[in-house]
Amino acid sequence: QLVVPDPELAERLRKGMAEVETRLRETATDSPDPLIGQAAGYLLDAGGKRWRPLLVLLGAQFGDPERASVLDAAVVVELIHAASLHHDDVMDEAPLRHGVPSAHLRWNNKIAILVGDHLVARGATLSVDLDEAARRMQAQAFERLVRGQVREVAGPRPGQDPVEHHLEVVGDKSASLIALAVRLGGICAGADAATVAALGEYGEALGVAFQLSDDVIDIVSGADRAGKAAGTDLRAGVMTLPALLAVREGGRLGEILATGPVEDADLRAEALALLRSSPGLAAARAEVARYAGRARAAALRLPDGPARRVLEPLCDLVASRSS
Ligand code: FPP
Ligand code: MG
Ligand code: MG
Repeated sequence: QLVVPDPELAERLRKGMAEVETRLRETATDSPDPLIGQAAGYLLDAGGKRWRPLLVLLGAQFGDPERASVLDAAVVVELIHAASLHHDDVMDEAPLRHGVPSAHLRWNNKIAILVGDHLVARGATLSVDLDEAARRMQAQAFERLVRGQVREVAGPRPGQDPVEHHLEVVGDKSASLIALAVRLGGICAGADAATVAALGEYGEALGVAFQLSDDVIDIVSGADRAGKAAGTDLRAGVMTLPALLAVREGGRLGEILATGPVEDADLRAEALALLRSSPGLAAARAEVARYAGRARAAALRLPDGPARRVLEPLCDLVASRSS
């Protein structure tokens, strides 16, 4: 897991994240309607690694991390993320999230979508107190996140290379929030412009690496290892990078995947097995490493210090994570 060599920073992050956790739950579940309160706490209680708020706190170390808006920003980013997962699991018909039945199975599609909306609304209320620059950055990232999901659903534009399309989607739907997290931390803590820019580039590359490694994990993990069922993407017809590269190669695997969602369980098992040993999977892993390298280069442009010495190895951690 994440190693924080500097004991003072480790303690600051530990305290900050404990505070974020309390505030996150309070903010999400604060509603006059008990059903909303209960449903909004459900997935937050189930888990999640809280990478985004942690990245906000790390970005804030390049300014004054004690500013009140830093914690607000950390909570807001996680609320948007949690909201997007509620909507995403409906769209992907995902049975599991954080190792528990997804909100749309625990309740139903309508409730899951509305809980997502509630979380966005709570985030909007909380961000009222952020500086204008922070609010604008947050709103733009949110818009980009939605656009990424729309592009994923709509598929490649006429003539657009599917792999290029996928990387665009990944940048917009995933890297947007990761980049927002680190940049927002820097902005809210009053870091200088060059540092905020480097944080943004770091987050962007780390975010792409993170999501592409998610694509890889969907294929290589055994059932439930990531708190999600293996092959979820295949079943929903979501073409991940390894799958897209496999289709390019053709063969039996290309034949199965080219037809869209792989609903048949036996066929899906066959596709998964073929994917696991495909050159596409190896190429996808190489792409993850390439983006991780890009993130590391951006980290090296940050002022040296304990926070940079956490952000740097995080690149390798993301590249090598398996769950
Ligand atoms: C997970 O991807 C989903 C995202 C990163 C973004 C989802 C964005 C939306 C649903 C936009 C609308 C959001 C709101 C709040 C209005 P994935 O399905 O590839 O990953 P998974 O395996 O974790 O499900
Ligand atoms: Mg999904
Ligand atoms: Mg999805």
